[in-house]
Amino acid sequence: MALNLIMLGPPGAGKGTQAERFAAAKGIPKISTGDILREAVHTGTELGRRAKAIMERGELVSDEIVIGIVRERLDRDDVKAGFILDGFPRTVPQAKALDAIMAGRDPLIVLNIDVAHDVLVRRLTTRLICQDCGTNALVEDAAAGAGSRCRKCGGPMVQRADDNAAVVLERLKTYQRDTKPLVEFYGARPTYRSVNGAQAPDTVTAELEAAVAALGAMSKGAASGARA
Ligand code: AP5
Ligand code: MG
Repeated sequence: MALNLIMLGPPGAGKGTQAERFAAAKGIPKISTGDILREAVHTGTELGRRAKAIMERGELVSDEIVIGIVRERLDRDDVKAGFILDGFPRTVPQAKALDAIMAGRDPLIVLNIDVAHDVLVRRLTTRLICQDCGTNALVEDAAAGAGSRCRKCGGPMVQRADDNAAVVLERLKTYQRDTKPLVEFYGARPTYRSVNGAQAPDTVTAELEAAVAALGAMSKGAASGARA
């Protein structure tokens, strides 16, 4: 059975951090709409030119654009064994479009990471990313501060363009208005789980993995029950 995962949660919850770990551990691609859009801004493509100002205001890029990106990405062969979506869906129309894309495929497992507002603001306003490859500083490296170098490529670590205090507050408002309704949209599904993201990253990883393993065991049980 394919491992089709969604990482849901507010800005700064740790979606990217945890999605990266899952992708490496399970050998499935991480599909981050934020990373795809930042890369487009960095290389100056047409998509990047359209997305830049919107992202820097802390607003959402149009549903039409991001649904198109994800539809095309989920059409590739490397998602056959599964994928992990980070930062998509972010609106109810995006979630409905994803359901349509998933018709006939294995079910979505929805993992929500829950973190309180003040912790999110602190994390985001102190986060550093690599200017060259976009990688987040590891939690334990963040204390190294600006001027430190990227572990992956050696590039300079800088603040993300949308991580200043005013834009962080705007992103959190956007989350409350447009994305939080997805907790209700997915919450009643048997494949929805929520974990407390205000714990050490390894603890969050362990809880997410336990949730996915329990769901896998449940579906195997159901499948063998159906055969019996
Ligand atoms: P996106 O890139 O998705 O940003 P976001 O949702 O605002 O989330 P972040 O990437 O800031 O946080 P995260 O949850 O990934 O946390 P992270 O692991 O980095 O989107 C950016 C923009 O692109 C949007 O505003 C929008 O304009 C556009 N966009 C993207 N997708 C879109 C869509 N589907 N529709 C429309 N527009 C879209 O962790 C954050 C920090 O906390 C890091 O420093 C990390 O080291 C640290 N940290 C992580 N876990 C822990 C922990 N357990 N304890 C302590 N620190 C931790
Ligand atoms: Mg992220």
